[in-house]
Amino acid sequence: MKPNFDQVVDRKGSKSIKWDPGVIREIYGAEDLLPLWVADMDFQAPAEVIEAMKEEVSHGVFGYSKRGESYYENIIRWYKKRFNWEIKREWLVFTPGVVSGLNYVLQAFVEKKEGVIIQEPVYYPFKKVIENNGCRVVNNPLICHQGTYEIDFEDFEKKARDPDTKLFILCSPHNPVGRVWKKEELQRLGEICLANGVLIFADEIHHDLVYEKGAHHIFADINPRFDDIVITATAPSKTFNLAGLLSAHLIIKNAGLKRRLRQVLEKNHIGKQTPVSMAAVEAAYGKGEPWLEELLNYLQENLRFIETTVKENLPKAKFTPPKATYLAWIDLRDYGLSDKELEKKLTEKGRVALDGGSWFGRGGEGFVRINFACPRRTLGEALERIIEAIEEE
Ligand SMILES: Cc1ncc(COP(=O)(O)O)c(C=O)c1O
Repeated sequence: MKPNFDQVVDRKGSKSIKWDPGVIREIYGAEDLLPLWVADMDFQAPAEVIEAMKEEVSHGVFGYSKRGESYYENIIRWYKKRFNWEIKREWLVFTPGVVSGLNYVLQAFVEKKEGVIIQEPVYYPFKKVIENNGCRVVNNPLICHQGTYEIDFEDFEKKARDPDTKLFILCSPHNPVGRVWKKEELQRLGEICLANGVLIFADEIHHDLVYEKGAHHIFADINPRFDDIVITATAPSKTFNLAGLLSAHLIIKNAGLKRRLRQVLEKNHIGKQTPVSMAAVEAAYGKGEPWLEELLNYLQENLRFIETTVKENLPKAKFTPPKATYLAWIDLRDYGLSDKELEKKLTEKGRVALDGGSWFGRGGEGFVRINFACPRRTLGEALERIIEAIEEE
């Protein structure tokens, strides 16, 4: 069945965090805002996924459950088909989310006060997780050159050389700046980490949402020399809009790393899943590819829509379309507003809920992040409100 991404699904009162008035009030101090913040989509999951879940529900018995062979096979086939990456069943480790996976990785491999490199502006829970685990945030800020972000390798090497630096969280593709890293860039990062004994947590949760075919390189697959220092973290949650099902997976080739992580997971009794989420994930990877292709087309049209609307109506804004993700990172610095003023305008005048750029750390000030995984009508309304709020005197 062909998906209809133009269909507006009412998510109010549907347990959605993004649309919950209480959550919105707590964060933005107002209630009836149009939400384009949290990174999930306002689209229904593939019909095949919904069907598989219904079938599972109709069985009616929801006892302790175990992943079947076909669960593994569908994931393995997905990576082979989409990325030509051959993974083995025993490399897979399951966690409820990528962020919870990161917590367990820190608990397994990083001692308190030891350093973890991140590249700000970046997905803000990274910093929080590092701090919550008593570790030290080591920032290797990205450099913005005319709207395109680059890695400061000299600074990265200096920070990786510190013997207290133990882990690097790679965000690939990068949220919020939308970069898809080139193979040479990844290779260089990997060489530096390898030379300095730094482990890599490659967060690739957005890697199915890349607009140019073949542009994304799975970090763990670019060089066999990196096999012993990389943990790949991903999930069907962004790809198929299944974040609420709490089903992520880590992919680890090195047996020693896996053993050490498994000890932490077992200690916390982590790794189980619900039968309904298993059915959903299996159907998504097994049958969801045509839906994903349609989604990528729709998102690209949304992206073009943002590009032309911004160009025509926000003369001081700078926007470089992301190469991946459904997140638009818009530079509003030339409006000369502080982050507080910007948020006030967007919230009070525009009545939209967006992620503020400064949430993402250094370099994010004066930017906003717009989640454009919504029907065009919703996006159009949000853009109108944003333009009115910012351009109006
Ligand atoms: C880079 C990145 N990692 C992880 C997550 C969240 O992953 P999970 O819900 O599996 O913890 C997000 C969600 O926005 C993200 O952008």
